[in-house]
Amino acid sequence: MCGIIGYVGREDSPRPLAVAIEALTRLQYRGYDSAGVVVANAAGLAFAKKAGKLEVLEAELEAHPLPLATAAIGHTRWATHGGPTDVNAHPHLSEDGSVAVVHNGIIENHEVLRLELAEAGVQFRSQTDTEVAAHLLARALVEEGNLPDAMRAVARRLEGAFTLLAVARENPRLVVGARRTSPLVVGLGDGENFLGSDVAAFIASTNRALELGQDQVVTITPETVVVTDFFGQPVTPRQYTVDWDASAAVKGGYPTFMDKEIHDQPDAVRDTLLGRLTPAGLLTLDELHVSEALLRSVDKIVVIACGTASYAGTVAKYAIEHWCRIPTEVALAHEFRYSDPVVNEKTLVVAVSQSGETMDTIMAIRHAREQGAKVVAVVNTMGSTIARESDAALYTHAGPEVAVASTKAFLAQITATYLLGLYLAQLRGTMFPDEVRAVLDELTAMPAKVQQVIDGEDSIRELATSMKDVESVLYLGRHVGFPVAMEGALKLKELAYIHAEGFAAGELKHGPIALIDEGQAVFVIVPSPRSRSVLHDKILSNIQEVRARGARTLVVAEEGDTAVAEYAERVFWVPPTPTLLAPLVAVVPLQIFACALATAKGLDVDQPRNLAKSVTVE
Ligand code: G6P
Repeated sequence: MCGIIGYVGREDSPRPLAVAIEALTRLQYRGYDSAGVVVANAAGLAFAKKAGKLEVLEAELEAHPLPLATAAIGHTRWATHGGPTDVNAHPHLSEDGSVAVVHNGIIENHEVLRLELAEAGVQFRSQTDTEVAAHLLARALVEEGNLPDAMRAVARRLEGAFTLLAVARENPRLVVGARRTSPLVVGLGDGENFLGSDVAAFIASTNRALELGQDQVVTITPETVVVTDFFGQPVTPRQYTVDWDASAAVKGGYPTFMDKEIHDQPDAVRDTLLGRLTPAGLLTLDELHVSEALLRSVDKIVVIACGTASYAGTVAKYAIEHWCRIPTEVALAHEFRYSDPVVNEKTLVVAVSQSGETMDTIMAIRHAREQGAKVVAVVNTMGSTIARESDAALYTHAGPEVAVASTKAFLAQITATYLLGLYLAQLRGTMFPDEVRAVLDELTAMPAKVQQVIDGEDSIRELATSMKDVESVLYLGRHVGFPVAMEGALKLKELAYIHAEGFAAGELKHGPIALIDEGQAVFVIVPSPRSRSVLHDKILSNIQEVRARGARTLVVAEEGDTAVAEYAERVFWVPPTPTLLAPLVAVVPLQIFACALATAKGLDVDQPRNLAKSVTVE
């Protein structure tokens, strides 16, 4: 959702605007429907804002250029309060034009504040919750005499989740940010500094960053960064180096980020394994700062996550229960918190998130910790809120994922949660060391197998293109194939806006089979015939059941599975893989199918309608 950039440099130049536009370009992936910038120089503030894509704003800036400046703040907006119009786009300025703000989050007490300001004679221009902050800041600036103190005074009055950035006419060499729950990070430059809703905002300029905590205010000038709490008490933030390079977030010759990220998947798995195996092939998880005694005493695991991450968590449930014999539940983060969950000191909560900023997941983590549970985050974004608020962060090293719908993060999340499961099994003695080693060897072989599936993409693309007018697709799987079916269906909904549903194949006869009639497309994820043959046999029966009722059977199966071929209209072969690792290859044809079908329909696969990459509101 909303992307934010703040920049301050030493002298009037075109750089503040250029940095802001570059940042907004890189932040587009978060999802947005309008964009705007404001620049500050000794003469005052000048701004431009437009509904629609960034190109609309850029055309506006070409027609009406902004002056050279020392500072800029910019924003991509994903509408919550007030429709996606020019007027509701950020920045919002105070009535006298002395202060401009951009905002991510929701100011929950905005109605009370709006009423108070309206009674004092303020004329509102927009329907946003944000505008109250601009007016409050202008008033606080008069009272406090400087922007940082004014920001602290206003932040103390706001309820809800917010990141606010502000510039003021009185000092064009200063940008102030405040954060409560919504994300904000600082980028450190030479003679210039940055604020961004994530590091992608400034990665083209610097990889040195500072983490900000809850309820903090940061003031940047070209030479200084000062962080305090909302009451002015100084805070020392943690500095870190971002290990993503700027080129990782560009398309690299692929037509879309989604295509690139699908092709990045062997590296995502490889990099997530990297550094976690000793030369002797043993598993180490140095970053798991939870005591071994506690990990031994855990009697229940709860995975909390949303969307794709929840399906990675469901895959992990099968593996963790099998390897560790610890009861493992998967809860959607937004359901978890309100379901009065039974969690206590003996519960290990595993929070899975690519962005590390999903508000539903953050709230679930807070709830779990309040109940005494320890939380390990499996997260892709360094310095993110989820990484910081958990007891330990186990990073997936998928690199920046830009396309809104998740692909490579899914594979990296399965890999990382598997490492966690194997580590627990090693620690608790539920697997022999040579058994752990055997799975690690198999995991190490997975990147090459994922590559093999990607290499066969042409036949999937060709099928997808021929099916571009399909109205509904069903996905069936059993065991770890069930969450893969769910993820395949989610990809098709997200990218191609086609009705799609994933089912546990055994559930078919309890209802979904009524959906099958002539020509209904059904993907079936078939487990290895070498695994538990009963699973394989049962799914063969399911294929026959839907085929007998006229369905088109599109099957993902292991090479050499001759039994499957005669019941399938099309088979997409994946290399032989142990049962629990099969999701890493089985999901790939489904991702390629959804991406290619959406492309054939002429849709924007990187930024599907209505979706946001980082869902920073509940
Ligand atoms: C949004 C995205 C999904 C993603 C989900 C969870 O809904 O559109 O692609 O799976 O959030 O995001 P997270 O960053 O927590 O993994």
